[in-house]
Amino acid sequence: MGMESKFIWMNGEMVPFEKATIHMLTPALHYGAAVFEGIRAYNTDKGPAVFRLKEHIERLLDSARVLGFREFPWTVDQVSEAIRETVRVNGFKDCYIRPLMYLDGGGWNLNVDSGKPSLAIAVWEWNNYLGDEALEKGIRANISSFTRHHPNVMMTKAKISGNYANSILAKTESQRLGFEEAIMLDPQGYIAECTGENLFVVRHGKIITPSTAPVLEGITRHSIHTIAQDLGYRILEQPISRDQLYIADEVFVCGTAAECIGLSEIDFRKIGDGKSGRITREIQNVYHDAIRGKIKKYEGWCDYLE
Ligand SMILES: Cc1ncc(COP(=O)(O)O)c(C=O)c1O
Repeated sequence: MGMESKFIWMNGEMVPFEKATIHMLTPALHYGAAVFEGIRAYNTDKGPAVFRLKEHIERLLDSARVLGFREFPWTVDQVSEAIRETVRVNGFKDCYIRPLMYLDGGGWNLNVDSGKPSLAIAVWEWNNYLGDEALEKGIRANISSFTRHHPNVMMTKAKISGNYANSILAKTESQRLGFEEAIMLDPQGYIAECTGENLFVVRHGKIITPSTAPVLEGITRHSIHTIAQDLGYRILEQPISRDQLYIADEVFVCGTAAECIGLSEIDFRKIGDGKSGRITREIQNVYHDAIRGKIKKYEGWCDYLE
């Protein structure tokens, strides 16, 4: 994956890619004391547009608040303009956007108050996270041997960098076992989420998803919820057991990076007919049109750059 670009925005400056470095003694690097977002911009008939930009920035600032930062040097509008400018100066149309707010200059006593937050924004061209074929064929997943965070151990509403050690453990194990993605259970043993996606189950025409209590409040989850409801499906938020996945008609996962992808197999058990199911494909198609500004009622989700 090529991650090069011309410039990375750092604390208000456009820094050439090769010079966008930080010191080895930055505390965020040692303790995971940073928060981040994963955002995408898509090319549309009206030029590039960032998808659900405001919601992502609000979540970034919420994550910072959860980590304990008390003062942010930037407002939602300033971060929004910085992101838009970073995409523009790099000349990308379809790209991934990674803002990172990290503990800088202090923090060695494990107290965020002794440091200050720095903000950097990188962008790179990135297409399918899980590959082109996955759209129709779906992907194979396993139930991870690693449990998702207890909400009182790591804060599951926040995209805190240190939280992602849990995702790295699960994803590495899953891929070494020959699967493409890991599904994690919550501390009570119910389905939580994947390493970077929320999960939905389709059974008897109804769509079920875990409540947001133990998981990240995915912005794609919200978009998919809205789309599915507009298509006339009933969506229930309730605990889902591991065996409910095995007997589901369809299971799909969604996130900014993965978009909306069906699961063809879980723990060596075929789901439905072993490829992306009908309802998954229907929702996936609408989602793909929505992100490219092709559906009037969802155009408010697209933040056009021009
Ligand atoms: C653990 C986890 N769950 C769910 C998601 C999906 O969130 P979103 O749709 O906002 O990208 C992500 C990705 O950010 C994630 O890291």
